[in-house]
Amino acid sequence: MSESKIPTPHIGAGKGEIAQTILLPGDPLRAKYIADNFLTDVTQFNATRNMLGFTGQYKGRPVSVMGTGMGCPSMGIYSYELIHFYGCKNLIRIGTAGAMRPEVKVRDIVFGMGACTTSNYVKQFRLPGDYSCVCSYELLSRAVKAAEDRGLSYHVGNILSSDMFYDPDIPAVGTSWDRMGVLAVEMESAALYSNAAYGGANALCILTISDSLITGEATTAQERQTSFTSMMEVALELA
Ligand code: HPA
Repeated sequence: MSESKIPTPHIGAGKGEIAQTILLPGDPLRAKYIADNFLTDVTQFNATRNMLGFTGQYKGRPVSVMGTGMGCPSMGIYSYELIHFYGCKNLIRIGTAGAMRPEVKVRDIVFGMGACTTSNYVKQFRLPGDYSCVCSYELLSRAVKAAEDRGLSYHVGNILSSDMFYDPDIPAVGTSWDRMGVLAVEMESAALYSNAAYGGANALCILTISDSLITGEATTAQERQTSFTSMMEVALELA
């Protein structure tokens, strides 16, 4: 960890202002919502590029929350700086995803055990083969227990971090990623998992299914809020 580089070009926090465990929604206003509604003793540590970040307490334990923006490059920048310059150890992405398999229904929760990707991000570690982007088993097992305790409908498995939201080939049902058992598509986890591995940190991606590429069904804004709350409570238990 290099504290001499802080504040960084993208995060204005000083030393010790970010907790070792941080929740990472894509949307910075989600970060503010979590801080306002779930944390106590909150201080704001970032407003650079409006990528709002806050530190507070949850059940007496320190936890931070900050937006990441969308896509692997944006997640890549923020997670790298959090790990290498601020010493974050547990990075938990909370976001939405599109279902790619029939057993995955809208409003379900998906824990991304592994992340396939169409992004070039992971290739830039220049490894002599294909790297498997995987989550932290410890975070995963604790999150699964929290979901079980709440009776939530969840899946654990592979996800796809796509570079394209408006992909012309989706849905390619039965012929592509879904055929390999990939449960859902989002856009950031491969960057988070590979950065965490490179930096010796733990990462997990928790998703709520906002839409289905198979049925075309989509959640309403109100439903997204409710399922988002369940996911967030699971994530906060990891603090
Ligand atoms: N594609 C990529 N990311 C997403 C999607 C999707 O269909 N739904 C929610 N996040």
